Amino acid sequence: MSTAFVVRSLDEVRFWSRIMKEHSLFLRLGFRAEDKQLINEANHFYSTFEAIESRANGMNAGADPQTIQRFNVEVHSAVTQIWAFKRKVLGLILHCQLPGANNYPLLVDHTSREAFYFRNRLEELNTGRLDPLPDAIINENVFFLRIMADHAKFIGHLLDPSERKLVDQAREFSEDFDKLVFQAIDLESMRPQSQTPPLLDQFLDQNRVSVQSLRDFKKTARDLIEACRIKSIIHPLLADHVYREAERFLHIIDRFEAALTGKE
Ligand SMILES: [Fe+2]
Ligand SMILES: [Fe+2]
Repeated sequence: MSTAFVVRSLDEVRFWSRIMKEHSLFLRLGFRAEDKQLINEANHFYSTFEAIESRANGMNAGADPQTIQRFNVEVHSAVTQIWAFKRKVLGLILHCQLPGANNYPLLVDHTSREAFYFRNRLEELNTGRLDPLPDAIINENVFFLRIMADHAKFIGHLLDPSERKLVDQAREFSEDFDKLVFQAIDLESMRPQSQTPPLLDQFLDQNRVSVQSLRDFKKTARDLIEACRIKSIIHPLLADHVYREAERFLHIIDRFEAALTGKE
């Protein structure tokens, strides 16, 4: 338990608790007016993660590692609960119990995968059990590439159909990222033989190029939505949210690259 543990923990909790808070808002916006119980539950998660976020922002690298470890356990329990809530909502939608509600099943599943990822990160931090670098590179890329592919699909489906050019661009990103997901899964099934430094380095380089251009597309979309220059049912905060997740993925790629080439 060290300063590095405190810094890593606070970074993960600050980033992902804000994401969980925003998921609560997006889910709530997609419920119908009569879904009062679900709306209350979503509001409850919003306040829970808002409180966690502000506590994490109030702590710094000098915090006591044991305090952080206990904090991580507490956050872990909140994340487990929001994960269960998202899976319950997914079940209701797939059993056609919420006709007319506006959350896509894939979006709900997606947000539950992000919660699961966050929970797993907290477990890794608290137990100190990190994947060896070559495994971490493949696992994180399989996870995030699929997240990026989903984002492209959400953007394409939430833009107004009359925004034909932008819808086309979103579909191209979706196809590009679906291919990258399959390439990552191929590399995964070829491991450990596939885990050579040149192959992993090329994998990161190729993914970075696509993530950068998707990140730029999201940034443009966010700015256009904020300025009310395009027609869509995308909440401006959702546009910013998916942009931040792309930035996060890029930082992770850069960290892997530095660790792989020893240029940290
Ligand atoms: Fe998200
Ligand atoms: Fe996402």
